[in-house]
Amino acid sequence: MNKIALITGTTSGIGEATAKNLAKIGYDLIITGRRKDRLDILKTSIIKECNNNVLQLCFDIRNTTDVLYAINSLPESWQNIDVLINNAGLAAGFDPVDKALWEDWETMIDTNVKGLLYLSRQIIPLMKKRQKGHIINISSIAGINTYANGSVYCASKHAVNAITEGMRIDLLPYNIKVSSISPGAVETEFSNVRFKGDDEAIKKIYKGFTPLNANDIADTIKFIITRPDHVNINDILIMPTRQANSYYTFRD
Ligand SMILES: NC(=O)c1ccc[n+]([C@@H]2O[C@H](COP(=O)([O-])OP(=O)(O)OC[C@H]3O[C@@H](n4cnc5c(N)ncnc54)[C@H](OP(=O)(O)O)[C@@H]3O)[C@@H](O)[C@H]2O)c1
Repeated sequence: MNKIALITGTTSGIGEATAKNLAKIGYDLIITGRRKDRLDILKTSIIKECNNNVLQLCFDIRNTTDVLYAINSLPESWQNIDVLINNAGLAAGFDPVDKALWEDWETMIDTNVKGLLYLSRQIIPLMKKRQKGHIINISSIAGINTYANGSVYCASKHAVNAITEGMRIDLLPYNIKVSSISPGAVETEFSNVRFKGDDEAIKKIYKGFTPLNANDIADTIKFIITRPDHVNINDILIMPTRQANSYYTFRD
């Protein structure tokens, strides 16, 4: 019987790379996201390459009814989730606090904070029942350094860090590990989403240095989940070599 990982946000970037990497080390996968066409393609490619079992759940993590329906409808054989990777998330907009759009704030807080909580709330009882499990929350350097024009994205990732710590404490008696990863700049669709397709702004973000790629983070996740039972990696802060923190990036 293969181990099962549920990964949120597998239709691009870190989530997609993680699904492919975990399939290669023998995990059966529950892949999620809103773009069904991309879930279909990922499922087909994983089955073709690795022949693992793949279940796709297409839902918006902000919607409590959809989250409840998705998890309650899991067939029994898929309920033994060993690893939950809370990866779905985004930054929307890059504006000073008095100019940002209310709807961007709602989107970030509803996805990065509330969505992560809704899903975890439904999966944790399944892990508690088995007295085992591992939750990995994808945070960010933005959860450590707050930068200009990013106050609410940074706030959402500071919240992820507090939730991670709280989960770790609450779940101690149940043998459930809780870890987080805080990446610096990773080249994915993240900037396309944040800058809403503004190509100039997107190009500027990764100009003059080599950012991390989605596989770097997938590889780190693999390291975290393959430690022995008695070892938990609390947090990993991972940066491109040319980026010291949110404020200092050395560009050619
Ligand atoms: N890229 C970076 O520089 C960076 C750095 C630090 C941390 N992070 C964090 O890494 C995580 C993954 O981001 P990424 O860089 O891989 O970006 P990405 O390529 O844009 O992927 C984001 C994923 O989240 C999913 N998602 C967004 N909103 C959703 C919703 N309402 N319901 C369900 N799924 C939703 C997207 O799927 P659908 O659109 O199909 O729903 C997509 O699969 C995020 O939490 C991000 O904050 C990224």
